[in-house]
Amino acid sequence: MHSPPTTPSATTDVLVVGGGIIGLVTAWRAAQRGLSTAVVDPEPGGGAARVAAGMLAAVTELHYGEQTLLDLNLASARRYPDFAAELTEASGRDIGYRACGTLAVALDSDDRAHLRELHALQRGSGLESEWLSGRECRRLEPMLAPGVRGGLRVDGDHQVDPRRLTAALLVACERAGVVFHRAWAERLTVAGDRARGIVMADDTELAAGQTVLAGGSLSGRLAGVPDDVLPPVRPVKGQVLRLTVPKAYAPFLSRTVRAVVRGSHVYLVPRENGELVVGATSEELGWDTTVTAGGVYELLRDAHELVPGITELPLTETRAGLRPGSPDNAPMLGPTRLPGLQLATGHYRNGVLLTPITGDVLAHALVTGELSDEARPFTPRRFAVPSPASSPAPSPAPSPAASAALTEQPV
Ligand code: GLY
Repeated sequence: MHSPPTTPSATTDVLVVGGGIIGLVTAWRAAQRGLSTAVVDPEPGGGAARVAAGMLAAVTELHYGEQTLLDLNLASARRYPDFAAELTEASGRDIGYRACGTLAVALDSDDRAHLRELHALQRGSGLESEWLSGRECRRLEPMLAPGVRGGLRVDGDHQVDPRRLTAALLVACERAGVVFHRAWAERLTVAGDRARGIVMADDTELAAGQTVLAGGSLSGRLAGVPDDVLPPVRPVKGQVLRLTVPKAYAPFLSRTVRAVVRGSHVYLVPRENGELVVGATSEELGWDTTVTAGGVYELLRDAHELVPGITELPLTETRAGLRPGSPDNAPMLGPTRLPGLQLATGHYRNGVLLTPITGDVLAHALVTGELSDEARPFTPRRFAVPSPASSPAPSPAPSPAASAALTEQPV
């Protein structure tokens, strides 16, 4: 039972629920368009981007059946250089954007067959990707294991530092006048068949013309969202390691190196500051964010097969985050069937890559009420199932999945 919320003091044009990179970029772009904008999150700048490696891997993470998503990924990747420059200018902070390229390698004949298929898919999709022999791979990256059997050189897959990106977005939002409410969103307010804002955990109501649900893996848990509008987002755990390359060892790797080892993806992302990020497990374990001995062992074992020298490096951090998975691995962007409620969630493996285009798409949708052409396939309405409870008017009754408020800490 909730006591009646306090009367809202003011109505903001846009209220973004969730202060991870997707919520922040949405707020920044909305504020730039002249909309009064607020973000509600107990710890803005948290979320999965605190863990993510920051690969911008539209080409090397291409999967069968994801060609539509590929177009969005490529469009966002193309925006990164200008986005990085604009955000650096707006915040005074570098975001660690590096056009360093990626090398995907094979360790045995099975891996090589897998990479050959990926290469064919890439070429068939019109993407630039060059097949290299094992020797050519090692010439590019001398730290690679002698057993590397071949690889794909993809110069168009870059990287950014997600922690720096987050820090820059926070400053840019503040400078653009975004207001931060450091609290949990308790429930969506629905009245007169439209979303009207949210109620926070202390029962304070925040009124808004448009509410954007950008809560990452928690986006499906906000109470008050009607069943047929609730985003079908689930947490997909990823464990990630951070190591440090001492100056004496540099340059250890000059680009991102990745492989599929015994069916598991492993990648090593070298930063200019000496950080080396090794990721990532992919585990469907609900809200569990425990770093396990098994997860760390498997990442180190697979990374060691690729680059034996990593065992010499200091291991400085182990962490687990939750990717916001969606039924088709693609995000949900823009207006829902409930007027006044938009989504920016379900980015799964591509949240960092899709940050620039998500900001642009949401700003456009908030100003015009429409999705831009490139974002049409990603309307949240593709998952909407009309339910008796919501017909003809959306019901404010939460589903069982939504009965818990947005009160769990994403990492
Ligand atoms: N895109 C990298 C990952 O999800 O692990």
